Amino acid sequence: MKSKIIITALILFVGVLIFQTISPENTIPTAVADTTDVNPNGSSEMSKLMRDMQKYTTDAKSDIKAGKSPASYPAEFDKVHTAKISDGVSMSEFYKQFADLYVMAVKNYASSTPATRVETYNNMVASCLACHSQHCPGPVPAIRKMTIKE
Ligand code: HEC
Repeated sequence: MKSKIIITALILFVGVLIFQTISPENTIPTAVADTTDVNPNGSSEMSKLMRDMQKYTTDAKSDIKAGKSPASYPAEFDKVHTAKISDGVSMSEFYKQFADLYVMAVKNYASSTPATRVETYNNMVASCLACHSQHCPGPVPAIRKMTIKE
């Protein structure tokens, strides 16, 4: 199985591309601005959550190398749907699907067996990249490096 998540991610990529092509204007709405955030660059609730997600992923990579079992799914990751994002950062209509895909991928990794561990880990990284291809492209090179070469 190589793999449902990658296929879903690809469908989303293509869907977004088609949508952007046929969209008469650039209608992607900007997120509701959090005007109380005095330091929007990197201090939003979403940015903090992202750093936790990034840490979970780098820890997962070293766990795999050390032959350790995965850490369980952190319930706070559910906030990827609702956390406030920085001023001026926009969310596409597809944000929710990308977030669902990510949550599912982390759960699959957290419940993986040794035989599926690397594959489910890489699917998790692919789901970060899928969302980042549409939102916040800055961290993409760093996320790409998290992939484990099989
Ligand atoms: C559902 C969409 C989505 C997924 C999945 C996602 N991201 Fe993000 N990421 C974002 C958005 C949106 C921002 C911008 C947040 C802001 O500025 O408020 C962001 C910001 C970041 C940042 C910058 C944080 C900072 O310091 O400002 C990093 C690093 C990051 N993501 C890494 C990751 C990693 C690693 C994964 C997978 C483990 C991941 N992201 C999964 C949407 C996503």
